[in-house]
Amino acid sequence: MAVTTRQIGPCFAAEVEGVDLSRPLAADEVKAIHAGMDRYAVLVFHDQRIDDGQQLAFTQGLGDIEHAIGTSLRAPEEYRLPTTFADVSNLDQHNRVFQRDDRRRLFGLGNRLWHSDSSFKATPAKYSLLRAVSVPSRGGNTEFAYMPAAWDTLDAETKAECEPLICEHSQIFSRQQLGFTDFTDEERARFAPVRQRLVRTHPGTGRKSLYLSSHAGSIVGWPVPEARFFLRDLVEHATQREFVYAHRWKIGDLVMWDNRQTMHRARPFPAHEPRDMRRTTLMGDGPTVAQVA
Ligand SMILES: [Fe+2]
Repeated sequence: MAVTTRQIGPCFAAEVEGVDLSRPLAADEVKAIHAGMDRYAVLVFHDQRIDDGQQLAFTQGLGDIEHAIGTSLRAPEEYRLPTTFADVSNLDQHNRVFQRDDRRRLFGLGNRLWHSDSSFKATPAKYSLLRAVSVPSRGGNTEFAYMPAAWDTLDAETKAECEPLICEHSQIFSRQQLGFTDFTDEERARFAPVRQRLVRTHPGTGRKSLYLSSHAGSIVGWPVPEARFFLRDLVEHATQREFVYAHRWKIGDLVMWDNRQTMHRARPFPAHEPRDMRRTTLMGDGPTVAQVA
């Protein structure tokens, strides 16, 4: 059966049919998936009864993966999944739901702010692939915003202002917005800011987009409050409902998105219920801008 895509909701999201992720993909299937990602920015695969090994194999068939090492508040002995996965669950290493005030959970709540995965890394993520292993009884949707549309609909003056700007991204900035500032010196050093261009051009489509993320906390050369306000205004513009697709998860869904042209956020759900989501991530081609020593 041929791999086909069918648009769902806004122009940038599609469902994929005719592909079984439990077995190795043929070269033409991989090609069709990459083409689908260039045409859309979010692809949804339903009813994929796959395990971690199969998700990893599928991801590695698409490119080089990013490892999740030192990007959360879990100590190395508290990892529930191997570092080939980003653990986006609310579960500890024994598969128990975190207590409401557990700082690992509170840090994880940062995923509910609009962001682009790994924008806090010098080489940020290309694609993220998220698989629903267990879902809460209500809530917990993931929403996606399409950043080329956000760019296209800015006025010329704002575009010109954005074009040369370099932002600094850190998980400390995103957590600050939630009032979470309780970091150790080791964590502050580990989460040191990196630079990213505010405007980037997609290598597949040639389209420009705003590279926004809640991790962006300053603009090089700007006073911080002015930068925060400017970025907040852009996020508000970029996340208007007509640019947003909301994914309502079912077990067996795998959603793949392009972090170079979307932002996303998780929505709330009951704190005592497990939400087991496992993410594999493709590494980007390189930094968006040179770093400073
Ligand atoms: Fe994310």
